[in-house]
Amino acid sequence: MGKDWMDNKTVIITGASGGMGKGVAEKLIKEHGCTVIGIARSEEKMKKVVEELGEYADKFSYQLFDVAVEQNWIDFVGYLNENNIKPDVLINNAGILPKFDRFQNYTVEYIKKAMDINFYSAVYSIHALLPILLESDSPAIINIDSSAALMTLAGTSVYSASKAALKSLSEALREELRGKCYVGIVCPGFTKTDIFRDQDSADAKAQKMLNMVSTSCDRMVKMIMNDIQTKKPLGVHGFDAAFMNYFGRIMPVQGGRLFSAVMKMSKLPLFDAVFKD
Ligand SMILES: NC(=O)c1ccc[n+]([C@@H]2O[C@H](COP(=O)([O-])OP(=O)(O)OC[C@H]3O[C@@H](n4cnc5c(N)ncnc54)[C@H](OP(=O)(O)O)[C@@H]3O)[C@@H](O)[C@H]2O)c1
Repeated sequence: MGKDWMDNKTVIITGASGGMGKGVAEKLIKEHGCTVIGIARSEEKMKKVVEELGEYADKFSYQLFDVAVEQNWIDFVGYLNENNIKPDVLINNAGILPKFDRFQNYTVEYIKKAMDINFYSAVYSIHALLPILLESDSPAIINIDSSAALMTLAGTSVYSASKAALKSLSEALREELRGKCYVGIVCPGFTKTDIFRDQDSADAKAQKMLNMVSTSCDRMVKMIMNDIQTKKPLGVHGFDAAFMNYFGRIMPVQGGRLFSAVMKMSKLPLFDAVFKD
């Protein structure tokens, strides 16, 4: 174990029951001796995380709650205080990927739900935890954002809006807390996790395409860990994310048209709801 600012820290990470959150939690524990409090809703998945941690399991505990509800965060702060737990690092990672669809096809209720999980969860967690984090010698907040915050495609209105909001919030915090607290933003591109569960699974061609452009979860976790270790202000990972970062900057309007043309040409059923009239 090399010497690192993250070594032996107490870390809170949301979405630790699966995907990238689980991977980051495991690395923090095994490679940095961290004590990790994981947050998610499924006890079954959390029990599996504990089981897989084996001899390291005593470094991991979990709290089961919906990150999209503010009161849950207020109660969580109460739990930390009662148990004299002093966290150093908060990683906002829990998120959902709404089904690829046209804006008008989402109900307003669903849009609010997606914003609550992907954006307001970070608002609530940071608001509730910042005073405690700032008591640490090396406080940190890392928000797992998305390449969708770098460029918006047709079919991703809600997801992109939630992730763009998270990016803007994080950028303001980075400046407001400069010198007091490390604020990191990570924008992964497509990564092989279960997050695609709500997409059209019958579309085998789309699955194949997603697999082709996706980075493995292990590799993405390594890149996220490297960002955190080096206190990188912004990490953009995966070739698709690099692509979106580039086009989002040099062709903010025409880039979207170009991607729409490619998606239409692909004739994938995945994009039917967006382009078929
Ligand atoms: N995979 C990708 O291609 C990709 C690309 C760019 C960005 N991202 C972002 O990376 C983050 C992690 O994604 P992932 O791919 O690892 O997803 P994942 O495999 O679906 O895992 C999501 C995690 O979030 C938890 N979660 C979801 N909703 C929650 C809620 N309301 N309250 C508490 N926990 C909740 C889930 O646990 P429970 O089900 O147990 O609650 C699970 O542990 C997300 O923010 C996502 O937007 C992913």
